[in-house]
Amino acid sequence: MRVSVGPLTSREIVFDIASVTAHHDCPDIPFSIRKNFLKIFDNPPPGSLVERYLGYLDGEPVGYLELDFPQLDNLELVGVDLMVLPGHRRQGLGRALYDVAVERAAAHDRKYLQGSSVDRHPDGKLFAESVGAKPGLTDIRSRLDVTALDEALLAELRSEAEKHAEGYTLRSWVGVPPDDLIDGVAYLEGRLNADAPTGDLVIEPEKMDADRLRQGEQSRQARGRVSYQTGALHDGRPVAWTWIVAEADQPVHAWQSTTIVDPDHRGHRLGMLVKIENLAYVRAAKPRLEAIDTFNAASNTYMLKVNRAMGFRAADAWIEWQKDL
Ligand SMILES: CC(C)(COP(=O)(O)OP(=O)(O)OC[C@H]1O[C@@H](n2cnc3c(N)ncnc32)[C@H](O)[C@@H]1OP(=O)(O)O)[C@@H](O)C(=O)NCCC(=O)NCCS
Repeated sequence: MRVSVGPLTSREIVFDIASVTAHHDCPDIPFSIRKNFLKIFDNPPPGSLVERYLGYLDGEPVGYLELDFPQLDNLELVGVDLMVLPGHRRQGLGRALYDVAVERAAAHDRKYLQGSSVDRHPDGKLFAESVGAKPGLTDIRSRLDVTALDEALLAELRSEAEKHAEGYTLRSWVGVPPDDLIDGVAYLEGRLNADAPTGDLVIEPEKMDADRLRQGEQSRQARGRVSYQTGALHDGRPVAWTWIVAEADQPVHAWQSTTIVDPDHRGHRLGMLVKIENLAYVRAAKPRLEAIDTFNAASNTYMLKVNRAMGFRAADAWIEWQKDL
């Protein structure tokens, strides 16, 4: 077998390799719709510089490497997405792609590689260990079965939360936050890496402001995605915020993304309240929704407790690896 790595020659091949690999790793997560997947190439999030490579076995493209070099913060990191089609593993291609990642990290003066693997298959973990990467953080993917929600329980959780949240008002919107809220939402989003557990990963808070948040949302829309967002406001300022994102033409599946409460406003059940309100908001907009998935650090006991109370159940665990170069 001749192993080689070369520059990207076809975006369609990336979809083919990534969708088959994802289905093998996590068959219960619907993969991105092809036309939306292909939009990422021309619509990256702000501050992301991406390099892409194909891996070949005897001239056939069966592996893919994506390297993300953050440009606005986390300047010592490289995000690594590395995959080989299931039928072509253990022939040295993963290692050849990894060697390119190390070489490109040096060219960009980066000190750490970070990437993740799911626990359902041993391949990713054993590969990461074989290159000397260390587990930095364990994430749990939890799923909410929207077809089997306990409506009475949700109503009860909501009214309990409201009792603790006097003086706060809720507002929901789609996409870019309204002008009067966007600075406050950007502040909350910027806190995320400081507030949520990051384990042993070397990672710094994102430098977030209204412009970056707006551009991120515009790039998401250009990729065919719609985000449903809810904030809790105090004196007109958002102090808690959550959002769910789904592909516009994917009716049955969505992702629960960030939920964050300003430290000065914790203890008022605002995390629970914005999540329950936003769930109702997304269900009204997507009546055929069946499942919502979310990732939380295994050590994030508060968020996991809120999710569990709402009906989320653990689906699998992911390790976020770090290799110090
Ligand atoms: C991780 C992945 C890219 C490895 O691709 P690959 O082409 O099989 O990798 P290689 O053949 O170069 O394997 C390199 C070493 O990893 C280790 N390894 C990989 N899979 C293994 C397995 N199933 N059992 C034992 N060791 C394994 C071995 O040490 C192997 O060397 P060896 O074959 O000489 O013993 C592939 O399994 C994959 O696509 N997994 C899903 C995506 C993923 O998890 N990527 C992120 C990893 S952090």
